[in-house]
Amino acid sequence: MRQPLIAGNWKMHKTAAEGQALAQAIRQGLQTDQVEVVLCPPFTALSAVHAVLHGSSIRLGAQNMHWEDAGAFTGEISPVMLKEWCRYVILGHSERRQHFHEDDEMIRRKVAAALRHGLTPILCVGETLSQREAGETGAVVAAQTRRALEGLTPEQAMGVVIAYEPVWAIGTGRAATGADAEEVIRRWIRGTLAEQFGVEVAQRVRVLYGGSVTPENIAEFVCRPSIDGALVGGASLRAESFLGIIHETARAKA
Ligand code: PGA
Repeated sequence: MRQPLIAGNWKMHKTAAEGQALAQAIRQGLQTDQVEVVLCPPFTALSAVHAVLHGSSIRLGAQNMHWEDAGAFTGEISPVMLKEWCRYVILGHSERRQHFHEDDEMIRRKVAAALRHGLTPILCVGETLSQREAGETGAVVAAQTRRALEGLTPEQAMGVVIAYEPVWAIGTGRAATGADAEEVIRRWIRGTLAEQFGVEVAQRVRVLYGGSVTPENIAEFVCRPSIDGALVGGASLRAESFLGIIHETARAKA
């Protein structure tokens, strides 16, 4: 019912030329149509990667976005600009929350703006190590989910993708366990969606795991009933490892 999705978050890596080469290699090596694949290069590579992906089923996403359509916001990119190139946009990534002080209200505005323009948000939520150690994981993840989606209709909420990314697992080589991620997603993400929008929305929304995903550990996550795929950072920067994750997902979900 929910199509598996693997998204690559390139973060601040790859020039336009490097991005083009990577996207080309991924396009050539892709051997399944069971998994939706999304590449999220930096803004400066969107146009080049778009050209490479033309005519393929691989989708393009951005890594951030402002909530206004236009205006005096030096250095920002609007949904109107992104929708020329992208179907998806990552919003509320923990690196944006941590280093650029994005709060729940900014992220809520961004989610609403993306949906207004037909972009699919990949909303990131997740607890820090100290929050986890304090036993606050559920409360943090539920609050981030609820606040980011406040004010949406159930139909709009159904169009959001959520990525559960425990902050302590990102870029550390220390992934969560599949059982733990499944529990947080089932109870605190799908549970919150059910309270806020009803059971159907909770069942229809795609939820990904993110944090040190590799071809070796991806099956551990996507074999779980609540987990529909992954948001991949480091391992999305090489075609071989990214394709490995996609193909393992197709196998595990078959
Ligand atoms: P990682 O990053 O796969 O390198 O841990 C994931 C992310 O930040 O989305």
